[in-house]
Amino acid sequence: MNQDIRAPYYGELGRLSFSPGWARPEPAMWPAPRPKFKPAVWRFAAARAALDQAGEFVPVEQAERRNLIMVNPIEGNVYASSRNIVAAYQMVKAGEKARSHRHTAAALRLVVDAKPGTYTVVDGARIDMAPGDVVLTPSWCWHGHANETDATSYWIDFLDVPFVQHSEAMFFEPNPVGFEPITSTGPSPYRIPAREALGSGRDAKTVEIAKDALPTIGLSLMRLPSGARHDVAKTTVNHLYSVISGKARVALESGTSESLAVGDVMTVPCWHAHSLIADDDAIVFRVTDEPLLAKVGLVKSA
Ligand SMILES: [Fe+2]
Repeated sequence: MNQDIRAPYYGELGRLSFSPGWARPEPAMWPAPRPKFKPAVWRFAAARAALDQAGEFVPVEQAERRNLIMVNPIEGNVYASSRNIVAAYQMVKAGEKARSHRHTAAALRLVVDAKPGTYTVVDGARIDMAPGDVVLTPSWCWHGHANETDATSYWIDFLDVPFVQHSEAMFFEPNPVGFEPITSTGPSPYRIPAREALGSGRDAKTVEIAKDALPTIGLSLMRLPSGARHDVAKTTVNHLYSVISGKARVALESGTSESLAVGDVMTVPCWHAHSLIADDDAIVFRVTDEPLLAKVGLVKSA
């Protein structure tokens, strides 16, 4: 082809919404995962202080959105913590009720600090929230939060919103009556207290919880006695960790490591070999997108 006609040729392709496969600006495939997301850490102490300040000017009408989203610090990202999952620190002040809503995104929360009298209403069922509890709100379940104590309650939300946004299957509906009334109380499969799930003992143990409850999100509780180490090989699965009690460290293959205190969150994107090391007797909460990847046959390890 004559050099002179290339510029108008490519210009015309662009007008026709074609991209020439032989001259792509970047390849569409590569030999192994090249994660764009980075390992990143968010500190509960910093979030708590910032949320307390927000509590002074963000009114109760916006309580369900008075949260701090953990944005992975990569160029162009304004929301996701990892490829398919977002995490956020949430607070509900003493005496507040956060209005009920539902969405196609699946959600769960890990309670960090809450006095008895803090609860979530899921499809009419009152689910009490205590530190270390995991509370599930599967896709399209109504949920609202209440704090009938004299202290602010804090927890960490995890949702598959980045995936649902990507698939463009997002629906959201506010509850027509505001805060959904309680129609039942008592034990709920949507409340998983960490210590009960792990049972007694001090040995290293990992328990998968809420299996099949959320189609996109995998949850585990990990008990690591002081000095214990849990290695994770390179995998296509994206990991998030938080500490429920004690202290743990995440060591990356690059040689860097991050110490996590209670309520801190760290994300380790796919294809980063890493280790969890207990610096003290620790209980660690692990959140992954493994069930989602498994459904489409994309769980692979190096
Ligand atoms: Fe929600």
